[in-house]
Amino acid sequence: MILRSKLYYLDVVDSTHEYLRGLANEAPEGTIVVADRQTQGHGRAGRSWYSPEGGLWMSVLLVSSNPGLMQIVGAVAVCEAMNYFNILLGIKWPNDLMLGGKKIGGIIVEPVGEKVILGIGLNLTIRSFPDELEIEATSLFLETKKRFDKMMIFDVLCKELDDLYGMSLYDHSPEILVKWRHYTIMLGRMVRIETETGSITGRVIDINSDGALVVVGSENKIQRITDGHCQFL
Ligand code: BTN
Repeated sequence: MILRSKLYYLDVVDSTHEYLRGLANEAPEGTIVVADRQTQGHGRAGRSWYSPEGGLWMSVLLVSSNPGLMQIVGAVAVCEAMNYFNILLGIKWPNDLMLGGKKIGGIIVEPVGEKVILGIGLNLTIRSFPDELEIEATSLFLETKKRFDKMMIFDVLCKELDDLYGMSLYDHSPEILVKWRHYTIMLGRMVRIETETGSITGRVIDINSDGALVVVGSENKIQRITDGHCQFL
């Protein structure tokens, strides 16, 4: 097992991501930082990430030249882990984990030299969210009214992540993409994606192994989109 070569379990931290970034040069591949609570958790595009007690907040140090694939690995690993508990999550490109039409978690991947830090946030027993998140966010407890053991979820997730990361190292990305296609809620949907250079509208047909979404737009033009904010039409 590569994952958990070193494990830092903290009560509270500004951000597991930033804590791990500080260790990234010396820490071995597979190092994990987990915290019960973050005071300055952050998501993609500099957004803040609500991280009180009641969630799984973790960052993992991996070695990869393909951050897009690591994003897929992270999202699929969470879905496989929750599937073990009979919870079917959906993946909304690029990094949202969905349950009951709302966001229950997210993935963030940031390169640090030749390594990447993969961050996972999963809302477990949070019972209410700040007003600005109320409409779009949810937690496992709010959706199922059941209590799950956080350490059990963490254990299963580490195993799934280890399997998928191992597959990526041995060039098994086609198998990883098969799993992504199984869990995603994107395929066949009409979307509008706001990118840095403008907006793209079309029907989603696939994902590439670098994490780019493949969309067919007007006049059957195929576009591969590497990043952006996605809205269903
Ligand atoms: C997103 O949906 O924008 C990604 C959210 C990622 C949040 C996790 S929680 C653990 C790790 N530490 C952070 O500060 N962010 C990530």
